[in-house]
Amino acid sequence: MAQNITRVGLIGYGLIGSNVRDMIDGDPDNGIEVVFIHDQDTSRLQDLGDLGLEDLSKFDDRGADLIVEMAHPAVTREWGTKILEKTNYMFISVTALADRELEQAIEATSKKYGHRAYVPHGGVVGMDALLENRDVWESVDVIMKKPPKNVDCAAVGLDPDSIKEETVLYDGPTRDICPKFPRNVNTHAAIAYAGIGFDRTHSLLVVNPEWTEAIVEIQAKGPGIELNVSRIESITGVTGASTPASIYNTVQMIGSTGPGIHLR
Ligand SMILES: NC(=O)c1ccc[n+]([C@@H]2O[C@H](COP(=O)([O-])OP(=O)(O)OC[C@H]3O[C@@H](n4cnc5c(N)ncnc54)[C@H](O)[C@@H]3O)[C@@H](O)[C@H]2O)c1
Repeated sequence: MAQNITRVGLIGYGLIGSNVRDMIDGDPDNGIEVVFIHDQDTSRLQDLGDLGLEDLSKFDDRGADLIVEMAHPAVTREWGTKILEKTNYMFISVTALADRELEQAIEATSKKYGHRAYVPHGGVVGMDALLENRDVWESVDVIMKKPPKNVDCAAVGLDPDSIKEETVLYDGPTRDICPKFPRNVNTHAAIAYAGIGFDRTHSLLVVNPEWTEAIVEIQAKGPGIELNVSRIESITGVTGASTPASIYNTVQMIGSTGPGIHLR
């Protein structure tokens, strides 16, 4: 029987984007074909031949069934609804959703045009449990610990190299941490969106130059139930080691048409 092919466009060809592209191409049975790659840094597209798409306004010419953002939350602000008018859209820079107007625009455009918007679990271990019990949780706390050099502090005007000791960079509702550290707290945003929302979820971001790894702890509490998750992993730039494989797995969950046993 002929296999349907899911056509996928990629936005952002950095650490995650290039790994995800390699994972898609590396599995000939997944039924997924990359039909374009866009990056604002056009030097990254130089070796890609026709696959490179310099002008993102031409995305619809490539006939993608799914477009995956792996670049920056600014892409969803500028292109999210335009993409959803034409096709399905997954965005991994989830901090974009902390902007209420953007969230509502994505929801409304998806409904109007009949396309789907996807938020991957990405760096969140246990997003299924947070979602399935979202009506039960009374509190959800996210504690993130990182070396300062792996935190992009540009939006708060801080030089990470100037931090010499353990420092709390943020302590408060998840809604307000997202614009302050938009490239670093996608995990917080996904936890808030899956669980009790951006205003009720509590975020803590702590840095210490002596640390070498990234730690994310999730503590959710409700009557008769408690969820405690902790992940410790190495980190490159702003991205934990497990994220590229996690994003590929979600692309597969959405787009794979291949045979075999599939976990959901
Ligand atoms: N959901 C999650 O769990 C999770 C985890 C880690 C990182 N992220 C997010 O994923 C994104 C990519 O992470 P990465 O480690 O691959 O980063 P990276 O810096 O290695 O790569 C990002 C790429 O996107 C390009 N880019 C940036 N802004 C762009 C724009 N407006 N339009 C087009 N291209 C643009 C850059 O030129 C770069 O090539 C970041 O936004 C990061 O915050 C999400």
